[in-house]
Amino acid sequence: MGKKKWREIDAVITDKFGLDDEALAATLTANREADLPSIDVSPPQGRLLELLVRLSGARRVLEFGTLGGYSTIWLARGLPAGGSVVSLEFVPLHAEVARKNLARAGLGDRVDVRVGRALDLLPPLEAEAGAPFDFVFLDADKGNNSVYVDWAVRLGRRGTAIVIDNVIYDGLVDREGASVPADGKTLLDRLGADPRLSTTAIQTVGSKGHDGFVLAVVN
Ligand code: SAH
Ligand code: DHB
Ligand code: MG
Repeated sequence: MGKKKWREIDAVITDKFGLDDEALAATLTANREADLPSIDVSPPQGRLLELLVRLSGARRVLEFGTLGGYSTIWLARGLPAGGSVVSLEFVPLHAEVARKNLARAGLGDRVDVRVGRALDLLPPLEAEAGAPFDFVFLDADKGNNSVYVDWAVRLGRRGTAIVIDNVIYDGLVDREGASVPADGKTLLDRLGADPRLSTTAIQTVGSKGHDGFVLAVVN
């Protein structure tokens, strides 16, 4: 059973559970028209994010890597009234497209898209001393994920959930972006040795190929 079958089954799941609608479809169209890469989460993965946000009871969500805001829409839909998302995006065009997509989806007032390198945006975010983030989604530059996990713990609280996209690349375990860290330790090595977290990784197949995500909770 190969990639074609995985894609077909994702389409069936998307259909059966109503995982596409006008706002989501318009977002993917706008992204394509603006030449953004098609690397958004899939509809079933998006619904999983929505459900995880709901299950965790999160009111404040932090996202690394907005792109066109497709995953952001799903995250925001999992929030209760009064909840909010801060989403960090390096490329101004991506943020601009995302803001329009989020406004069209009726979520403009609950999502704050901030433009810059995540590492530059985090200290000012911390200085605002807002409520802790209850849920963090890492989906930006993969090589910084270990540092982003430290920030997620710092800006979170006991019980904060951390989801990391794309931890399995085409069936390869432990490839942390293009560069191998100097000490040879990959993201999964670090997470496995991190007493601050209870962690697992789940492999996935679907329209995005063979991939996987990490789910961790702060102890
Ligand atoms: N979460 C999106 C996909 C994100 S793609 C979705 O599923 O719909 C990864 C995004 O991270 C890209 O838009 C890229 O520009 C952004 N990015 C890359 N490096 C970054 C950095 N250092 N800080 C913030 N965003 C970054
Ligand atoms: C790819 C997929 C992603 O979900 C992502 O965040 C970055 C890249 C990819 O398939 O290349
Ligand atoms: Mg991703």
